[in-house]
Amino acid sequence: RRAVVLDCDTGTDDAVAIMLAALHPGLDLLGVTSVWGNVTVEHTTDNALRVLDHVGRHDVPVLRGADRPLGQAPDAAARARRLPPHLPLPPSSRAPAGDAVEWLVETLRATTRPVTLVATGPLTNVALAVAAAPTVVGAVAEVVLMGGGHARSNVTPSAERNVWWDAPAAQRVLQAGFERLVMVTLDATDQARATADDTARWRALGTPAGTATATLVEERLVQYGGPAPLHDPLTVAYLLDPEVVTLRHAHVAVETAGALTYGRTVIDLERVDGRPPNAHVALEVDVDRYFGLLSAAFG
Ligand code: BDR
Ligand code: CA
Repeated sequence: RRAVVLDCDTGTDDAVAIMLAALHPGLDLLGVTSVWGNVTVEHTTDNALRVLDHVGRHDVPVLRGADRPLGQAPDAAARARRLPPHLPLPPSSRAPAGDAVEWLVETLRATTRPVTLVATGPLTNVALAVAAAPTVVGAVAEVVLMGGGHARSNVTPSAERNVWWDAPAAQRVLQAGFERLVMVTLDATDQARATADDTARWRALGTPAGTATATLVEERLVQYGGPAPLHDPLTVAYLLDPEVVTLRHAHVAVETAGALTYGRTVIDLERVDGRPPNAHVALEVDVDRYFGLLSAAFG
């Protein structure tokens, strides 16, 4: 079983990623670290606890992470999200088990087996852990993150939200020298649009995870006014079935200065500037395979 840590800003789509990582027998979920993002870190922490308890994984620790970015996006206040703070799941009676960055460093220092680090929010915690203890990079077999885009953007005309939220953190993570880094971009996840038929299928599974996924995605259908993308679980789906996405090996850098392009991931697909690739970039998804994998795991 593959040892996994999930770092996320739960968030409806993050919640589905947590359930997949918590329930799939192929993964050993060591812990969930929360980070600010979709809502405040108090709420992302509380939501992660709610989701794990809902699927019976009271044993998985939740660690509370950063409450703000390393670098503030230029127009962050104007573009702030206005999401309901709590997921529609019963509150947890558990408390977070400690500080996310400290726990990440301790866990990665102590581990005797390679750990896969999945990140589905702003990359603040991961960047802080690497800055605090650079050697932890060597304990990570693979980083799989949801973020960035090539042809698509969702927060400014140039940027995807997770990277834009903390562009310096994303740049540090891309340059940290991880053995393998997979970047699941918005180009791929935006194609994975769930419909009312999909939510009906998940609800019909009759399980806690199926029901919660249906409820959360139904909220997204309302928000989007139609088929809604399911971004974050594609990272975990990729771990379970790499063929769910198509990867391109390329050099990726993050724009941290541009007035118009702050937070843009500059992906050198054509290898024009000769820098060695540092990421495997997912731009395409097999949607049926992805949603089928969710149904199988939640059934
Ligand atoms: C990303 O932004 C967040 O709001 C979602 O949870 C996802 O991680 C998509 O750009
Ligand atoms: Ca997220």
